[in-house]
Amino acid sequence: MSDSFQVEATGKAGFTRRRFIIGGVGVSAAAAIGGTTVRAPRALAATPPSGPPTTTLPLPTTTEPEQLLLTWGGDPATEVTVSWSAPGTVAQPAPTLAFSTQPITAHNPGWLVKLPDPRPLDVTQRYGEAAAVSFTDGLNGQTTYFYHVQLQGLKAGTRYYYQVSDGAHAPSTAGSSFETAPAGRAKFRFSSYGDLATPSWDLNTSGNIWHESCDNSWFAVTAIENPGDGKGAPLFHLLNGDLCYANLDVDNAPGVWRDFGNNVARSAANRPWMPALGNHECEFGVDTMAGQPGDAPGGVGAQGAAGSYWNGPYGFGHYLSRFLLPDNGVTNWDGNRLRGNFYAFQVGTVKFISLDADDVIYQDGAANYVIDTANTAPETTTTGAEIPNGTTTYTRLYTGGLTADAKNNSLVPDHASGKPNLQTIWLQQTLAEARRDPSVDMIVVFMHQCAMSTSVSGNGSDLAIRQAWLPLFDQYEVDLVLSGHEHDYERTYPVRGYDAGPTGTVAAPNPGQTKGAAVDTRRPSVVTTEPYEFDGTPAWNTAEGTVYLVLGGGGTNGPTNTYGTDAADDKPQAKVITTRNAVVGSEAAGFSKNGADSIEDAPWSAAINPTDAYGYSIFDVDPGAHPGDTTITFQYFAIPAVSNEAGTAHDGTTTLPSAPTEKFVFGRKVGK
Ligand SMILES: [Fe+2]
Ligand SMILES: [Fe+2]
Repeated sequence: MSDSFQVEATGKAGFTRRRFIIGGVGVSAAAAIGGTTVRAPRALAATPPSGPPTTTLPLPTTTEPEQLLLTWGGDPATEVTVSWSAPGTVAQPAPTLAFSTQPITAHNPGWLVKLPDPRPLDVTQRYGEAAAVSFTDGLNGQTTYFYHVQLQGLKAGTRYYYQVSDGAHAPSTAGSSFETAPAGRAKFRFSSYGDLATPSWDLNTSGNIWHESCDNSWFAVTAIENPGDGKGAPLFHLLNGDLCYANLDVDNAPGVWRDFGNNVARSAANRPWMPALGNHECEFGVDTMAGQPGDAPGGVGAQGAAGSYWNGPYGFGHYLSRFLLPDNGVTNWDGNRLRGNFYAFQVGTVKFISLDADDVIYQDGAANYVIDTANTAPETTTTGAEIPNGTTTYTRLYTGGLTADAKNNSLVPDHASGKPNLQTIWLQQTLAEARRDPSVDMIVVFMHQCAMSTSVSGNGSDLAIRQAWLPLFDQYEVDLVLSGHEHDYERTYPVRGYDAGPTGTVAAPNPGQTKGAAVDTRRPSVVTTEPYEFDGTPAWNTAEGTVYLVLGGGGTNGPTNTYGTDAADDKPQAKVITTRNAVVGSEAAGFSKNGADSIEDAPWSAAINPTDAYGYSIFDVDPGAHPGDTTITFQYFAIPAVSNEAGTAHDGTTTLPSAPTEKFVFGRKVGK
C-alpha cells in the first residue's frame, strides 16, 4: 500500500517506493542520491575567503544598538521581551527602551524604560523587568553586552512600536514594531526551521568564513518575512537549535554570534523568534559545568586539563546571555535556574513546548576537539586556555538522572538517586496540565535532536529520546514534534507506541557492543500510511498518532539530505544511536569519535527530499468553531542551495519558492 496522494518512482526502473520522494527523478535527483548535492562552489569575491580565522578578530568598540531580538514572555498575548546588543566589547552608556501603540516620534516618546548597569551572567539569580547582562567568552576573553526588557501587561492582538537607544551623548537608536498574540481562540501563523548558521562569509573584512557559514542562511531569514504563498509573515518563528555554530570557531565565538544576531534581526526585530537548545550551543570555555570559574592551580592554561572547559553553565553562556526566555520555574540541582533551557507558552489553542534534548540523548556531538593525529597539541586560544585532544562536552543528564524501566523499555526520572531528571519531570507536568486545560487543543513540541531520522550523512535517530520522552508524547498525545540537527527535511507517518522485539542490528559497535547483534531500538509504530482528507487537502489525525518533522535545512553549508535505504529490499533504513559515541584512541595515537552504532528498517519514514536540503515551514492554525476543532495547515517550502557570483555581501542567489513542496492538514478530528 502506498500513499494515495502521490507516489513517485525512484531511479530503479519499475519499482515504487512507499516514501514520498520530494523533487524530480532527473539528473539533479540522481546526483543527490549519489551524495553530491552540495551548493555550487563560491566564486571569487574581491577578497576571497581564506577559511575560518585562527586568531581572534577584533570586535567594534562602538555602541549603537544592533541584533534586535523579540521573544515571547510567559503569556504571548500580554508579554514580549525586547532584547538587543552592543556591537562589540564596549557597553552602551545609558541604554533605554521606548514603546507605544503609536510610532515613536518626537511628539510621541512612548513609555520609557531605563536599563541598569550590566552584570555578568549569573543564572542563579532572578531577572528584573529590565536587565543588562555581560558575558566574557572563556576562550578569547572578549566581553559582550546584552540588554533585555520584559514588557508585561500588554494588550492582546495589538501592534506595539519600540525604539532602543544606547544613551550616548549623540544617541544611536534602532527600532521596529511587533504584534502581541491574540487572546482566546484565534487564527494565527507560525514558522519553523533549525540549523540556521550565519551568512557572514563575505561580510567579514578579513576575507575569512565562519564554520558552517552559507548565504542560504540569509535567504532563510528573508523567507520568514515574506513566505512564498504571499499570505504574509508569521506571528512568530520556532528556531530548532544549532543557531550559529559558534562552538566551531573557538577563537571567535562572540563574533559568530554577532553575525547570527544581525542576520536574524531582519525578522526577529519584527516578531518573536523562539529557540531550542542544540548541540552547537554548547561551547568550550574555562568554567566548570555549572558555570563556576575553574580553580585549577596553574592559571587558565590548566583549566582544561582539570576538566573546566565549559563556556558558562553547561557551555550555554552565550545562549543564556542573549535570550531571556519564558521562565519554567525550575532550579537545577547545582543551584542554577534553568530559565530558557526548556520552556512552554500558549498561543491561541496550541501549547508550544521547547525542550533541550542535550539533556537526554545518547549521542556525543557538542563541542569537540578530537583529532586523529598522534601527539596532537592541546587546542590553545587567545587567553591561553588549553583543551586536550580527545575532549568533548557531554552534558547528558545535566538536570538529573534517568533510570531504566524495563516494562516499557523506557527511561524515567531516577528518584532513587535523589536527583531525578528535572526536565523530564517538568515535561510530564507540563503535558498533563496542557491536556487538562480546555483551552488547549493541540500540543507542538520543538527540540533539536531527532527521535526519527533516516539521514545517512547526518546523525541518525537517538534511542534515548524514544526512551525518555516518546512514552510521554504517546501518553499525552502530542500532535507534532519538530526538530533540526539533520540538515535536511523528513516527515514521518503518525506513530504511537513501539514495535515489539529487537528491531535493530549493531552495525558499528561501540566498546561493549558486538557487530551484528540484535538491539531493541524501541522503533515507533506506524498508525497509518493513508492520509484522510480535509477540505481537499491530505490530512493526518494527530489524535491517532504523533507526526515528527525534521526541519533542519535552515542554512548551513553542510547538507545531510542523503537518506538510508536497505539494499536488500530498497525500503527506508535508519541509523540509530543506542549508546554514547565512544571517543577512542590515545594521546600518543590520536583520537576519533564513533558515529551511530546501529541500524533499523524505518517504515515510519514518510517523506524525504534528496534534491533540496534547505527549506522553511509555515503552519496556519485555525481554531475552528468548537473546542477540539483546531487544525494546523502545514506547508513545506524547499529552497535550492545558493550559487555565488563575484560581488558584494550576500551575492549568493537562489530562488525562493512560491509553491509548497508538501502541504498537509493536521488535526485531532480530521477524518472523523
Ligand atoms: Fe546542525
Ligand atoms: Fe545539531
